Amino acid sequence: MPRFYATTAIAYVNDAPHIGHAYEVLLGDGITRWHRLLGDDVKYVTGTDEYGLKNQQAAEAQGTTPLELADRNSARFRDAWDELGVAYDDFIRTTEPRHTTAVQKLLQAVYDNGDIEKSTYEGPYCVSCEAYYTPEELVDGNCPVHGRPVEWVQEDNWFFKLSNYQQRLLDWHEANPGAVVPTSRRNEVLAFIRSGLRDISISRGFTWGVQLPWDTSQVAWVWFDALPNYVTAVGYGKDETSFDYWWPVDYHFIGKDIIRFHAVYWPAMLMAAGIEPARCVAAHGFLLVSGEKMSKTKLNQIGPRELVADFGVDAVRWHFLRDVPFGPDGDFSYEGMTARYNSDLANNLGNLLSRVATLVTSKCAGIGPAPPTDSPLAPVAERVYAAAAAAWDRLAPSEALEATWQLIREANAHLEAHEPWKLEPGPEVDAVLGTGIEALRIVAVLASPAIPTATAEVWRRLGLPGSPADQRLPAAAVWGGYPGGLPVEKGPPLFPRR
Ligand code: MSP
Repeated sequence: MPRFYATTAIAYVNDAPHIGHAYEVLLGDGITRWHRLLGDDVKYVTGTDEYGLKNQQAAEAQGTTPLELADRNSARFRDAWDELGVAYDDFIRTTEPRHTTAVQKLLQAVYDNGDIEKSTYEGPYCVSCEAYYTPEELVDGNCPVHGRPVEWVQEDNWFFKLSNYQQRLLDWHEANPGAVVPTSRRNEVLAFIRSGLRDISISRGFTWGVQLPWDTSQVAWVWFDALPNYVTAVGYGKDETSFDYWWPVDYHFIGKDIIRFHAVYWPAMLMAAGIEPARCVAAHGFLLVSGEKMSKTKLNQIGPRELVADFGVDAVRWHFLRDVPFGPDGDFSYEGMTARYNSDLANNLGNLLSRVATLVTSKCAGIGPAPPTDSPLAPVAERVYAAAAAAWDRLAPSEALEATWQLIREANAHLEAHEPWKLEPGPEVDAVLGTGIEALRIVAVLASPAIPTATAEVWRRLGLPGSPADQRLPAAAVWGGYPGGLPVEKGPPLFPRR
């Protein structure tokens, strides 16, 4: 059985989760759920990034300790992902002892390899990015990303010899063209490496962090403690059998703003420790709200909880996976989400289920007829599965779901063409309704990574045992899986129109 390991970035705990974080976690959830359907042995990991100056300063500003703030906000992230039905296998917090052990082991390996040296750092540091800049990179003296004032840091600390890895990184990226997607991001990474890599300071003299094993007066720079969460979660430093099984990771799902850390610093750090880099860093765009970046000051941050309370979990998941293609920036708007909900969920899926269940009740005494093997929808289902599988594979959930909905549209058209509501019970009605049920069954499986709750309900109403998530592809997408003879339930509208 192939194994499939995927991660999200771990969020800072200085603030509550917003829909930008949710988008990333749902993208990973959709893809990993698809791999579960394929029968892969899947591990999906998310978590929180709890050390560093940003979190420490947020705690001070709120009159609390960094650990109390982390406890509170980490729980909010975990709760949000639970409410969104995210099937994560592990939720890692960087303040856990297992993580300290792993980070210290990794740093020690890099140190023993001769790639960490003491030096003096002097220059600007942006706390919002938790990143060092050169004076030339600043814009009007401010952080080039946040536009906020930077700190001027001057201290003796430890440096990672990133410059030793410039050629090795280039060679590695050249040999692994799929290691960063989309290609535009890969090109950005290559240009950055080619522009010349300087050694980077990787420790600070404050206390909220993981102590360096060879110098307890310093803690690791937060990125050098955060990135290793990906190896901690699969047993690095604790269970080498597990680590060897799961590593290298298949996908790091991250936002475009942190690509340099993942596609330059992280592989170099792993190389220095004698570990293979990640197979793929998949950088998604930003979710904007009415075309603007979300920020606390603009008060346009939307929390996932409010959305779930208002629209329901599947509507939110559907919007992010169907409407926000992987790669470019996407826009969130209530209008866009409502329109998509009405067209795809209420009018297409909900309507098909309701028509089929109502007709089976009135024409077939509530017992679903088996689908005909020669149904005109059988070849459609085959094409839809091929298109959906290819799209999930190239990290395009929106295209996969669009392809899947083709089967719903064709099934609705098939009903309209045959008008079973006008016919007497008999073989023609059975054939049309069996076709409708079978299309719904296949759609329930194929759409379960995006809308697990609603598809489980479709499954239940069709009288099928188990749940769509328990099915295995490609077998479950083959026409004719519905055996016939099961009780079909009418039930209230699956997605009432809004
Ligand atoms: N703690 C670091 C990541 C460390 S990974 C070893 C961090 N945290 S974050 O909370 O700022 O962001 C977490 C993830 O959410 C990042 O991948 C980031 O790109 C993503 N997003 C934050 N805002 C976003 C949007 N508005 N839209 C989409 N994703 C965004 O960076």
